[in-house]
Order: sequence, then C-alpha cells, then structure tokens
Amino acid sequence: MTNNHSDALVFFGATGDLAYKKIFPALQAMIKRGHLNVPVVGVAKAGWNLDQLRARAKDSLEKHGGVDGAAFEKLSSLLRYVDGDYQDPATFQAVRKALGNAQRPSHYLAIPPALFETVVQQLAKAGCAGEAGDRRARVIVEKPFGHDLASAQELNRILHSIFPESAIFRIDHYLGKRPVNNVVVFRFSNSFMEPFWNRNYIESVQITMAENFGVEGRGIFYDQTGAIRDVVQNHLFQIMCCLAMEPPVRNDSETIRDEKVKVLKAIPELDAKNVVRGQFRGYHQEKGVAPDSKVETFAALRMELNSWRWKGVPFYIRAGKNLPVTCTEVYARFHRPPTVVRGPAVTRNYMRFRISPEMTIAVGATVMAADETMKGESVEIVASHLSSPHEMEAYERVLGDAMAGDATHFARQDYVEEAWRIVDPVLKAGTAVSEYEKGTWGPADDEHKVLPIGGWHNPAASEQDSSAAAHAGQ
Ligand code: BG6
Repeated sequence: MTNNHSDALVFFGATGDLAYKKIFPALQAMIKRGHLNVPVVGVAKAGWNLDQLRARAKDSLEKHGGVDGAAFEKLSSLLRYVDGDYQDPATFQAVRKALGNAQRPSHYLAIPPALFETVVQQLAKAGCAGEAGDRRARVIVEKPFGHDLASAQELNRILHSIFPESAIFRIDHYLGKRPVNNVVVFRFSNSFMEPFWNRNYIESVQITMAENFGVEGRGIFYDQTGAIRDVVQNHLFQIMCCLAMEPPVRNDSETIRDEKVKVLKAIPELDAKNVVRGQFRGYHQEKGVAPDSKVETFAALRMELNSWRWKGVPFYIRAGKNLPVTCTEVYARFHRPPTVVRGPAVTRNYMRFRISPEMTIAVGATVMAADETMKGESVEIVASHLSSPHEMEAYERVLGDAMAGDATHFARQDYVEEAWRIVDPVLKAGTAVSEYEKGTWGPADDEHKVLPIGGWHNPAASEQDSSAAAHAGQ
C-alpha cells in the first residue's frame, strides 16, 4: 500500500440497493485479488447491527456472483457498522471511532445527492475529512451528478467546501469497463488507426445503447431522470469522448481527462431539432411513474463536433429501454471508396466496437466473392473478441482506483459541467415524446428526424448474429 492509498473505506448507504447489487460483490472481488486489506465501515440508518450487515453482505454475494469462503471471511473481519442519522454529529463521531488509526479514508456516498451537504460537513466536523496533502481523505460520489448544469454546479460547490477537486472521485461505471477503455488503447496503440480516424475517411459515428428490459422497479428514480440524464449525459458521452479525443501527450490522469473535456468543449448546445424522445407503451403503468409522465425512455441525438478532426462528421447517440436487444455498440461508417473495379462494393467499410454484453473490435470490409465473378463479398476483420473470465467488474475497478488515488477513470468537475451544458437546453425544451412499442427500435414515426445517412446500425443480440449479419452485407 503506497502513502497515497486510502487506509479505510467508509460507505454511506450500506443497507441500500447499490451496496447490495454492486458494492459487496466489488469488495469481495478486491479481497480475492489482494487489493483490499483495510477497515470497511458501512454507515446507514436502519437500526441494524454488524451481524445484520454481514448477513446482508452474504445474501448480496449469493445473489450476485457467489460467496468465496476465504474472501468472505476476510470481508467479515474488515467490516464495521455505524447506525445513525446523518443529521446527528454522534453518527460521525462513531464513524471516527470505527476508523481507528486511519487518517486518509475514502468516503463513498452511495446516497441521494440531497444528503451530500450534510454528510460532507459532518465528516469535516468529526475529523474524518483528513488533512491536506497525502493525508487527505477522499470522497467518492455516485451518478447522477446533478440533474442539470445548475444543480451540478451546486453539488460541486458543496463538495469543494470540504474537499479539493483532487480528492473528489465522481463515478461513471462505464469508465470502469475494459471495453470502453480499450477504445482509447486501441486507437492510440496502433499507428494504422490514425490516418483514417478523422473527417477525411469517417462519414458518421453511431453509438447505440439498447436494453431489452424496462425500468425494473426503479420507476420513482427513472421518472425523475429519463434516458438522457440516466445514460446519455454520462455513459454514452464518455464513450463518445474515448472515440473522439486527441492522443494525450502524457499518461497522467489530468492530461487524459483534459483531452476528454476538449471533446465536449467542441460540441455546441443541443438543438431540440437534433433530438428524438420516445416512451415505451405501458410506461405509465410502472410503479412510481406519474400517470401523465412525459419522461423519455428512449432518446436519439445528433451531435456536431467542431474540432479539426471531426468537423462535419455527425455523431449519433441512441439509448432506450425495452428495445429488441441488450447491447452497447459503436459503428463508425467510412466514406464510399471511388472504386473503379467492376462490381459495386457490397458494404461500406465500417469499424465496430462492441462494448457489451461481450467485447469485439472489428472492421467491415469487402473482398472478392468465392465464385470469382469479380463480385464483392462482405467480411469482418476481427481484431479482438470476447472478454476474459478474470476481467474486473466496473465497480471493482473504480473503487480500487479511487482508493489508490488514480482519478483517470472518473468524471472531473469541468467534464460534468460541460456535459450538462450540452444537454441542458433539450432537457428544458420539453420536446414532444412519442410512444413506441416494446421490443422495437424506438418511435418509428419520428425516426427520420434523427436518422444517419444509410440508416441506423441495429446491433445484434449476440456476436454470432453480428458476424452472420456482416457476412450477409447488412
Ligand atoms: C445505469 C443506469 O447507470 O446503467 C441504468 O441507471 C442502466 O438504467 C445501467 O440500465 C446500464 O449499465 P450496464 O453496466 O448494465 O450496461
């Protein structure tokens, strides 16, 4: 453990849903890899004791990935529990006591943002925010970071009143996904990429995040959020930045994050005419959803990037619930070649980055058909395929990185504010929301309003189906 490594982890919201689904599995995985050997203090107001928290952790692991005997035993021994009201200073004195000698804990706020101000102020008063420099404590916060530009600025003001920017880690779990970071690694580790990865060769870029399920009991949250706030402003913008950024001149977190912020700076505020919003039929019947809700469960956006590299290349982003498949995929389409060989090129060249459920990097190309008629045939050149069984889950990676003090895979203040600046006008415009049938690719009547030349590339449910479609020239 370096001097910069957190010497304890405190997580607020220990009895909540996120802890149950993501945090306990991440903690067990960190222990298995030998990455966690410091006190882990759960905090909540539930009237529980430590044994109940341990039982909850075990139950969480049984449901999400399985219990590893030795790692779970270790986790149980590292766990502490503080029960109390976040308004009550005694709760934070108990946290300080549970921290023992730890001087630079990471405080993970897995709680609603409305509680951030109270919690960070109480942490400081109880001596849990550490000292300046290396002994500084950190704060890790969950998305959504605000619900528009003004609220994000206010949250930043609150956090900065106690913690400097270098101690704030804003989670976007897409940055913890290897296939997302592989976009950057693939682009900048292969010199053949650079000559064509720009406006001279790429005609348009599409990013689709499709989910074949609905809001799954999260109606109250979702109805205050909608697709643009839930996944576009954060997850899909991060993917777009990985695709569009310039090569960083150094490998440190700030230089890399500077390049991502520059991408957002090149994007004008979204005009309502470049956005389609949809809602799946039956959304109003979901628990927690207002009967007259105009919240979008589908969004399609056309973005312009006014940078030297991308000027004139539209970037399309599409996300939705209850679409035909669950898959996140990038599809970059090349300009048509000025071909002189007989027989037309069957398909446009394209690059495909499949982010989930499995990872693929492939290039769509045309070769001569087997029957030697000079006819073209579509093929895919696959650079990388499938994920490793030992791969870290996103939450394991981001928690480990935050505790190690590596901010590369977190959203910086200027980044979140730029991202909100871009979507803010559309969120406020109250544009129409059109219904779509479950299991379709969004509102068909409105599709033409944001439609890439050559149409949307609809990702296949499985990679096998993708290659079949590629060979059929689709
Ligand atoms: C979350 C959103 O941030 O990301 C969910 O709130 C969405 O609505 C989820 O389903 C998708 O994450 P993943 O890792 O399953 O692609």
